[in-house]
Amino acid sequence: MTEPILQISDLSVYYNKKKALKEVSMDFYPNEITALIGPSGSGKSTLLRAINRMGDLNPEVTLTGSVMYNGHNVYSPRTDTVELRKEIGMVFQQPNPFPMSIFENVVYGLRLKGIKDKAILDEAVETSLRGASIWDEVKDRLHDSALGLSGGQQQRVCVARTLATSPKIILLDEPTSALDPISAGKIEETLYGLKDTYTMLLVTRSMQQASRISDRTGFFLDGSLIEYGNTKEMFMSPKHKETEDYITGKFG
Ligand SMILES: Nc1ncnc2c1ncn2[C@@H]1O[C@H](COP(=O)(O)OP(=O)(O)OP(=O)(O)O)[C@@H](O)[C@H]1O
Ligand SMILES: [Mg+2]
Repeated sequence: MTEPILQISDLSVYYNKKKALKEVSMDFYPNEITALIGPSGSGKSTLLRAINRMGDLNPEVTLTGSVMYNGHNVYSPRTDTVELRKEIGMVFQQPNPFPMSIFENVVYGLRLKGIKDKAILDEAVETSLRGASIWDEVKDRLHDSALGLSGGQQQRVCVARTLATSPKIILLDEPTSALDPISAGKIEETLYGLKDTYTMLLVTRSMQQASRISDRTGFFLDGSLIEYGNTKEMFMSPKHKETEDYITGKFG
């Protein structure tokens, strides 16, 4: 049996008094894509943000329970959150390239680490852009602004920027929902191709996307994890009425 890379136990998250995530326990396995689904407000983004401590930035957030990454408690006072967010990278719904060149976007994290060697940076740019399936489209314009790219291209540059810091886990919060279907399809294929190297948690509104590319799926409702299991099994024979209603489009 493979060991989980990430273990969430009894995790609750509050925004002031509002309990947005309720005693969630979930294990995530290496080199898998786990889809997180559920209606708006069910706590999917809250869960992702808890994993790499993005909630630290919001004084209204409190949290109980634990998040263990590679056997270490992410909420230990000894955790270096900058390092943590390199190991557990994040891609958001809206492509958010920095207002700088494609090249500088990708090497941003490496420059922060103090890496200056041009050969290393060049290599990282090519590898990361290839990993994000956008190298061929941008290789002749690496020093143009990333803001001049289409939304779908920008999102793949954001994926490349995340890959450049050599994460182990990538958190993706609806990475295709702001894109046209063709761009969305490209991102989806890209993510599927990255599965051999990375572990991914993917929040998605698309049941088709979840069933096409994820290994496991967790269904959330009102802050609770209602059902979690093998994607094919869950989509073929959901164990809970709420899951069935959601995946068949009866609400959401
Ligand atoms: N920064 C915040 N301050 C206060 N309440 C918040 C904050 N972020 C989320 N919430 C609340 O926490 C609950 C869970 O929100 P969350 O954004 O995690 O849901 P979600 O499943 O990602 O929804 P969506 O599909 O719309 O993105 C909601 O009731 C939401 O209103
Ligand atoms: Mg969300």
